[in-house]
Amino acid sequence: MTTRRLVISRSAVLVGAASTGLLRPSSARAQSGRVRVGLMLPYTGTYAQLGVAIENGVRMAIDQQGGLLGGRAIEWFKVDDESEPGKGVENASKLVQRDKVDVLIGTVHSGVQMGIQKVARDTGVLNLIPNAGVHAATRALCCANVFRTSFSNAQPTLALGKAMVDRGHRRAVWITWKYAAGDEAFEGFKQSYTAAGGSIVKELGLPFPNVEFQALLTEIAALKPDAVACFFAGGGAAKFIRDYVAAGLKNKIALYGSGFLTEGMLDAAGPAAEGIITTMHYSDSLDTPRNKQFRLEYAKTFRSQPDVYAVQGYDTGLLLVQGANAVKGDLSAKPALYKALEAAVIDSPRGKWRMSRAHNPVQDIYLRRVENGENKVIRAGGHGRATRSAGHARPAPWLRHCFARAS
Ligand code: BEZ
Repeated sequence: MTTRRLVISRSAVLVGAASTGLLRPSSARAQSGRVRVGLMLPYTGTYAQLGVAIENGVRMAIDQQGGLLGGRAIEWFKVDDESEPGKGVENASKLVQRDKVDVLIGTVHSGVQMGIQKVARDTGVLNLIPNAGVHAATRALCCANVFRTSFSNAQPTLALGKAMVDRGHRRAVWITWKYAAGDEAFEGFKQSYTAAGGSIVKELGLPFPNVEFQALLTEIAALKPDAVACFFAGGGAAKFIRDYVAAGLKNKIALYGSGFLTEGMLDAAGPAAEGIITTMHYSDSLDTPRNKQFRLEYAKTFRSQPDVYAVQGYDTGLLLVQGANAVKGDLSAKPALYKALEAAVIDSPRGKWRMSRAHNPVQDIYLRRVENGENKVIRAGGHGRATRSAGHARPAPWLRHCFARAS
């Protein structure tokens, strides 16, 4: 056979296969091989511990449900995204184009998520966000195939401002890393603090993941506010708390934060973290059988205490199992899969929650204080519940666009 004839006859086979529906690669995969699950998380840098806790949570949830997705075994693929926004598209493409994952779980850093968001929108791959709170993911750039199991950046801080004013702190300095997570956390803080009658004396920032806090702490001492509120997370949060104490500010100016400040690093911060008040969609001390059972099982399995990141990973695993079971493992059955994910009720250690129409958790935000090395719910107002929040105002103007893409 000549080369030309070979090409023509191959094309004929391809056309024939396509017209009979035999060329539906993901559907074909769904009937046979394993489900390909991609993890794109930070495993190095200041957010490394967050990535590990999320992966632990995902695996624990799936293992507890029998280790299968809709009856199919799993093949795992992993990429360290280094919390590096400049490599976001490239890293997500490795999982989607090279590894051909059926679902991409990631990530932690809001800037890196913007790269994933682009790849998810361009390719239609299912993306479950286990942390990154960037607003665009469930607002202007929301789409049918992206679901967040964590929070939106302003969700915790929308509950923080009033709690501070209620404690008599009316003049505050805000300090953060200058990128979407810090800037959007500030949006929530500013809205709630000023609405409650507080005034923001100064907004301070430094680039992510810089931890040279000294000059800014000196400025805070000179400004003499009633309180400081902040967004920091991971290794940088522990350093900020230690430096705050070392600068002699702890007993003079009350320190508050979006709850990430005291998540996963209470051992590293030590006694310096005692007494810090934060707002968050989880608390170690939630006195429910569900949370206690989760914490026990996690500690037994991983020989470490779970934090909010582990909970978010766990909920991501629970969501994926529910979705995959609904379509019997055929993740290419997209309309049915999305319907199941949208309808899912997640029986989480943080309390039961479900998705908003824009695919962000509708959940309780708790007011907590660090006591004896634990984030304890402050039991003011009966249940310690600061707010119930969907992560966006209602009616949300972007929803029409989001819903149009989803249908
Ligand atoms: C973010 O970049 O969205 C983020 C990172 C760590 C904790 C919370 C939010």
